[in-house]
Amino acid sequence: RMLKKQMQCCLDIDRLNAAFLAIYESLIPPEEEKMKQELFLMSLEKLINKEWPQARLYLYGSCANSFGVSKSDIDVCLAIEDAEVNKPEVLLKLADILQSDNLQNVQALTRARVPIVKLMDPVTGISCDICINNVLAVVNTKLLRDYAQIDVRLRQLAFIVKHWAKSRGVNATYQGTLSSYAYVLMCIHFLQQRRPAILPCLQEMRTTYSVTVDDIQCAYFHQVEKLRGFGSRNKETIAGLVWAFFNYWAYSHDYTNAVISVRIGSILSKHEKEWTRRIGNDRHLICIEDPFEISHDLGRVVDKFSIKVLREEFERAADILQYDPNPCATLFEPY
Ligand code: GTP
Ligand code: MG
Repeated sequence: RMLKKQMQCCLDIDRLNAAFLAIYESLIPPEEEKMKQELFLMSLEKLINKEWPQARLYLYGSCANSFGVSKSDIDVCLAIEDAEVNKPEVLLKLADILQSDNLQNVQALTRARVPIVKLMDPVTGISCDICINNVLAVVNTKLLRDYAQIDVRLRQLAFIVKHWAKSRGVNATYQGTLSSYAYVLMCIHFLQQRRPAILPCLQEMRTTYSVTVDDIQCAYFHQVEKLRGFGSRNKETIAGLVWAFFNYWAYSHDYTNAVISVRIGSILSKHEKEWTRRIGNDRHLICIEDPFEISHDLGRVVDKFSIKVLREEFERAADILQYDPNPCATLFEPY
């Protein structure tokens, strides 16, 4: 009977694996969507160069870090050399230019934490946010994309986690839950921690890529094609990893003392980061260190109400994966 039970369990795991892989495949943006985005970006750059001939546009965020699902909005950074730019002024000017070019829903949000112009292209249906000189975001986008090249399980896990977070309503920083960027960092950290490790820690390796942005030195090993197969000694499958990921955040993470750090590939203490007290609006109830802006805690948006919501959702997910006979349906149920 034991053997029969074990075999049933293996069948269930195989089924769950297949289900997760199917969800992952269905979320990958088709090649033609990427092409459309590139073309749109080029036409946008041409338009912008009429006013600022030296300016360049860069994609960042999920459309460039390989963690974007089909039909996401695109994030664009306008890089203007002039160090003295007045961002609100440029944004208003930019909004003007875009509006006269028949782009829709043009809106300048000059007072946001990251000031942006929003717009929608009626021809392609692409929505996009444009920010100015946010080079750090372009660099961390590259870091995420480089990690994704090392082991396909990162992209699979991150897609499932993002899909879960969106379905369950825990992917909104304005509501005190976590950004997609934070979830991807949680996935990278988690795969760095597996034994054998599935991902290395690129920032602890020899420097092959280095830029200085806003006085922050961003350096890491970026020759990731040399690291393919890094995690191949670890045979865990996506179903096992998703289960372990939620178990970690539900039952093993030390919320009182621990800070997760992709930069060092392990855990730091809140104490050494001086993240033990609330300062202004920054509470540190779940601590996720930004890989380059190391004083930046991606969990700072989480408050004493939303930490409860988050932890209950982690526990719900872990329990479903443990006990539910048809976990895939329940896991992504809209909240
Ligand atoms: P989706 O749009 O949800 O698919 O994900 P995304 O990867 O575009 O993530 P998000 O919109 O959360 O963030 C966009 C980019 O902003 C990230 O990829 C980072 O490069 C950058 N970023 C840097 N710091 C922060 C931060 O504190 N919060 C957020 N949200 N983004 C940051
Ligand atoms: Mg985005």
